[in-house]
Amino acid sequence: MIKVRELSVSFETSSEVIEVLHKLNFSVEEGSACAVVGPSGSGKTTLLNVLGALLPASSGSVTIGGKDLSQMKEQDATRFRNQELGFIFQQHHLLPQLTVLENVLTPRLAGNWSESEQETRKRAHALLERVGLGNRLNHRPSELSGGEKQRNAVARALINQPRVILADEPTGALDSQTGEKIADLLLELQKEHGTTLVLVTHDLSLAQRIGRIYDLGNTPTS
Ligand SMILES: Nc1ncnc2c1ncn2[C@@H]1O[C@H](COP(=O)(O)OP(=O)(O)OP(=O)(O)O)[C@@H](O)[C@H]1O
Ligand SMILES: [Mg+2]
Repeated sequence: MIKVRELSVSFETSSEVIEVLHKLNFSVEEGSACAVVGPSGSGKTTLLNVLGALLPASSGSVTIGGKDLSQMKEQDATRFRNQELGFIFQQHHLLPQLTVLENVLTPRLAGNWSESEQETRKRAHALLERVGLGNRLNHRPSELSGGEKQRNAVARALINQPRVILADEPTGALDSQTGEKIADLLLELQKEHGTTLVLVTHDLSLAQRIGRIYDLGNTPTS
């Protein structure tokens, strides 16, 4: 499903070029899960941004479902992000002026949504129940705790029933019990729907539960 070959990513600042990822190689089978670990600054968010077609590789290649991301036109990349990908950001990126329910419905606005609005609302409601926000539908993000915002963002990432979920420390802001519930949900979806899951975490017990661990602090270069 996901194949990363000799992937390098550098950032150019005014004074220097920093190579954050150097010749990474790994793959994630369709329908399986992989944890990405590594110290702060090792490039975990950068890697996820590349996998989500939000950031170009400096060299090397990434293919998802047989499509080479670097060969995709912007239009195809947008379609991929809207229809096939669920991205859970390290910072939740909820829209402050919208309610919890409306935030979950925002992916609909990007177009090409085949389902009726009523049907999407029903699923949004069910997803919010599932992440424990069923009684908060009409609240605004500013009225939620950090963990509740994160759970709202998880529900938003799942509304398009993505084939691939990229989750950047989705349990980082949560207490261990709530974090476990979110991890359970993501792993259930991966098993029930054959979703491919790449999850960044600092939580070693969660990484071990996922089973496959890719350690950016200790990356083999071949
Ligand atoms: N746009 C950018 N321009 C320059 N440097 C960047 C940029 N984005 C990230 N970096 C640098 O790349 C390195 C990796 O950043 P990244 O956010 O991927 O780390 P991380 O592993 O996700 O860390 P954390 O665990 O703290 O979230 C950092 O040293 C960061 O300063
Ligand atoms: Mg990060």
